Amino acid sequence: MYYFVTGGSRGIGAGIVEYAARRGHHVAFTYVANAEAAERSKQAALAAAKQAGHEVEIRHYQLDVKDADRVEVVADQVLEDFDTMEVIVNCAGVNRDNLMVAMSNDEWREVLATNLDGPFYVCRQFLQTLMANRFGRIINISSIQHEGGSGQANYAAAKAGLHGLTKTLAKEYGRRGITANVVVPGFFDTDMTRETMPQANKDYWKQYCPMPKGRMGKVDELAAVVDFLASEGGAFVNGEVINVTGGLGWTV
Ligand SMILES: NC(=O)c1ccc[n+]([C@@H]2O[C@H](COP(=O)([O-])OP(=O)(O)OC[C@H]3O[C@@H](n4cnc5c(N)ncnc54)[C@H](OP(=O)(O)O)[C@@H]3O)[C@@H](O)[C@H]2O)c1
Repeated sequence: MYYFVTGGSRGIGAGIVEYAARRGHHVAFTYVANAEAAERSKQAALAAAKQAGHEVEIRHYQLDVKDADRVEVVADQVLEDFDTMEVIVNCAGVNRDNLMVAMSNDEWREVLATNLDGPFYVCRQFLQTLMANRFGRIINISSIQHEGGSGQANYAAAKAGLHGLTKTLAKEYGRRGITANVVVPGFFDTDMTRETMPQANKDYWKQYCPMPKGRMGKVDELAAVVDFLASEGGAFVNGEVINVTGGLGWTV
């Protein structure tokens, strides 16, 4: 199959790219600033595919998902390079945490624009192709903070909005063979959580996550769920919110 993954240079997105390649899928993925990480992600995916005996096409594209015009340009380029697209994974995301009383307009806009406007632009752009093919799998990466999290009014609002967007896609395009689902990660060891996750949340997770030693998730464990949703086995799952949290759905 043909995957388009935003934010595939690092963290969960890079895990999804590598997992898809290992399963023999072709992948177009994006990064915003970190070209070196994008190249590392591409090489890791190519190596994984090779080791699994697959020959796949992996390409990366610079894209700020906040920029609707650039989304159009990159999507056109991707379709020229790959001829088609089937699985759209919106994974690019940022957080700019602050208590709401102190949250600036820029902190609010940056997170809403990246985590919600971006997926809207990307989905809208690829819908024509998915509709023409009468096949598509849209998978949007949310967060357990979609239910609200202290210091994350912007992030929680964007992720909650992503659920509404996804469920609407499921209803509008299900009859055309396109499914849309949300995957909710718990805590995974990535740059985002290493750099910005409050210690209180880390402690809470370790104490209460019902997994051995309160461990965090591994990106492969998230990528495997994305792979399932994109596969034949996931064909009748539509408009759902799938938690991949190790069993803990709430943080401070
Ligand atoms: N890690 C977790 O535990 C966790 C938990 C819940 C939800 N999530 C969600 O999972 C997704 C991935 O998180 P992560 O932890 O893997 O994050 P990460 O390690 O910080 O990686 C973020 C990725 O998004 C890209 N990106 C950032 N801003 C962008 C923009 N404006 N346009 C396009 N790409 C952009 C980055 O590209 P560059 O490399 O070029 O900077 C990078 O590839 C996010 O949506 C996040 O909200 C993560």
